[in-house]
Amino acid sequence: MADLLSKSQLVKTFIDETMSRETEAQQALRVETRKMSNSMMMSRPESDAFLQLLIRLIGAKRVMFGNGLRLFEFPAIPRDRQSVCVERDLRATAGSPQRFHFLLADAFVAPLRAGAFDTVLTPWFIDIVPVDVRETLSVIHTLLAPGGRWINHGPLNYPKDHPHAQRYTSDELFTLIRLAGFELGDAREDEVELLRSRHAANGRSERAITVAARKPATPPALPDGDPPCWLLFSHLAIPRFAGLDAFRPEHPVLAFVARAIDGNATLGDIAQRMVKEHGARADAAVAGTRAMLSLLYQSCRS
Ligand SMILES: C[S@@+](CC[C@H](N)C(=O)[O-])C[C@H]1O[C@@H](n2cnc3c(N)ncnc32)[C@H](O)[C@@H]1O
Repeated sequence: MADLLSKSQLVKTFIDETMSRETEAQQALRVETRKMSNSMMMSRPESDAFLQLLIRLIGAKRVMFGNGLRLFEFPAIPRDRQSVCVERDLRATAGSPQRFHFLLADAFVAPLRAGAFDTVLTPWFIDIVPVDVRETLSVIHTLLAPGGRWINHGPLNYPKDHPHAQRYTSDELFTLIRLAGFELGDAREDEVELLRSRHAANGRSERAITVAARKPATPPALPDGDPPCWLLFSHLAIPRFAGLDAFRPEHPVLAFVARAIDGNATLGDIAQRMVKEHGARADAAVAGTRAMLSLLYQSCRS
């Protein structure tokens, strides 16, 4: 017992020392991000989160393109005494990949050109982001070149605070993929083990969906439905629907939205104009514009 206690004390001291040692590059980053929070460019929690992401980006670059990275694994429940703290040597054993770039950005406002990608991969991503999967599908569809494909792998394990109406099941996801204008390819569901290390006595498993979809080279005719597809997704062109020409809304913002429907503009395009030309909040613009389009559509049909 005494032996075990002294060993655990040794490990604790070792962890404290290792964690408190910062490299010069880490110190410089910390100073820079503190400057940002002092100059009010970011709040302190934002600058801390940014710093963490930057450090991970630098680490990933060293693994893929540099001399590798030595890190320690501390399993929450070690398998045995030798597994309490395990040094790991992380490196790209097959050599540095060619034409591979890291980009640290919010995927929903990333500085990426529409149609620039022939493949988009989303591993363990679409359920974890605080965004409606429909919006994620719109972003992916926009980024893909005609003929490009999307490959998704991961569970539909939404966070507790994710709205219930947006907790799509796998069959609903497949329907949405088609309605978004993709050709649905192969799909499978498997029980996948994760967070399982040979040094840990515990681990998890989840049901992961692997699905491939293609953005057709020529946009398909989308099914008629209520609500129409262009109202469900922010990337589909809104047609000049029946009744629109004769409709004269009194409210100037509704009139603006009605005029913006030119047969090419999408919900996303009109939402962006709402931000730029009418001062709408960027995080509420798509939902607000969707509500106005829905009102217009219903009014024109009645
Ligand atoms: C469950 S993890 C999966 C990580 C990795 N793809 C994998 O398969 O191991 C989800 C990842 O999504 C990232 N993420 C969350 N919101 C994001 C956003 N708006 N833009 C880009 N990445 C985001 C998180 O930082 C996290 O790394």
